[in-house]
Amino acid sequence: MNHFGYRNGVLHCEDVSLEAIARELGTPAYVYSDATLTRHYQVLAEAFTGRDVLIAYAVKANSNIGVLATLGALGAGADTVSGGEMLRAMEAGIPANRIVFSGVAKTEDEMRLGLERGIYQFNVESMPELHRLSRIAQEMGKRAPIAFRVNPHVEAGGHAHISTGTPETKFGIAWHEADAFYDEASRLPNIDPVGVAVHIGSQIMRVEPLREAWEKVVSLARRLRDRGFSISRVDFGGGLGVPYKDGEDPDSPMLYARQAREVLGNLDVRLMLEPGRLITGNAGVLISRVEYIKERDGRTFVILDAGMNDLMRPALYNAHHDVLPVRTPALGAERRAVDLVGPICESTDRFAKDRPMPPLKEGDLVAFMTAGAYGATLSSQYNSRPLVAEALVRGDACVVVRRRPTFEEMIALERAPDWIVSG
Ligand code: LLP
Repeated sequence: MNHFGYRNGVLHCEDVSLEAIARELGTPAYVYSDATLTRHYQVLAEAFTGRDVLIAYAVKANSNIGVLATLGALGAGADTVSGGEMLRAMEAGIPANRIVFSGVAKTEDEMRLGLERGIYQFNVESMPELHRLSRIAQEMGKRAPIAFRVNPHVEAGGHAHISTGTPETKFGIAWHEADAFYDEASRLPNIDPVGVAVHIGSQIMRVEPLREAWEKVVSLARRLRDRGFSISRVDFGGGLGVPYKDGEDPDSPMLYARQAREVLGNLDVRLMLEPGRLITGNAGVLISRVEYIKERDGRTFVILDAGMNDLMRPALYNAHHDVLPVRTPALGAERRAVDLVGPICESTDRFAKDRPMPPLKEGDLVAFMTAGAYGATLSSQYNSRPLVAEALVRGDACVVVRRRPTFEEMIALERAPDWIVSG
């Protein structure tokens, strides 16, 4: 469910036409819907009514301050993986006691930041990390609430590159070594082992693999409790997929919640979740303009002003994004297979090959759908293309939540060395 649709032949985000946004912001531009963000958060939250749950939105999916503030105001926490993400979440008004710090390479400075601000939980991924956290917490006179992220050896996820729960990946501590890790944590100063965490991958369409992972987590939590640990939280991670095209039908948040309740049974813990894509994926589009139509060697290249630097997913994971014309095509207009490409000097700068599209001409606008998660956050300034603007729409209001930097801003942190003598 999202709030993008055609009105009077023009694609709108809520009550605002994407043509109007393109005129105002230029293209490419990301556009997010407040109503969709809110709905996705609330559907998940309501599916857990009656259960103590913290929905720690995975900031990496879309870290725009406007998006974070919207979710924070609804009660969301934040799952973060860097000092920058922690600071963003707090800047957006998400209180430290709803912030989780995950990630395999937490630096000393990042640990200090989390401890200083009193974040809710560190999800620890290795023994050396545990020792470092204990030492720093001791130095600071703080206590660190931790969960170990266990690697449950379960395979899941929409693509090998986004599967994280198998032994070959760098994530988590080995499932079968968990007891020893908790024992060590209980011996170390300033560490409070309070939870068990898991996250097995992303764009997971069916809840079954999650059940397998969650069951392992819950049985570990029960065993630890029996052994005297005060485990008061379990973190089931993120990963539930979203539809990117017609016919894709991921299991619903309702089914997901029902399964979570079943697996938890009577275990009286606070449930934590780390959804990213589920919340923001279908809440955003990327608008782009056709620069050229190039016919060559029997192929039609629709050359867009958006590139792989603006939307990396097709180049990185061969991911599919529907691309819709912003103006509905004339009735009876025939679709023709074209290659949708960008301006970047790389062969992988291709969004789609042989994609049936209605007639397009220079200057037309198109929208990449389901671009709200891992769109803007994965973008770069490759080819010295400034990061694109982002807008957030609510009803008939549209706010620029990140403006495009100027050329001067783009190069502001760079300089030529003094030893260059101009000749
Ligand atoms: N928690 C942890 C520890 C994670 O590593 C991730 C995502 C999430 C939660 C949120 O997962 P989600 O609910 O969004 O599936 N760039 C890729 C996805 C990478 C996911 C990385 N970790 C893509 O565009 O498909």
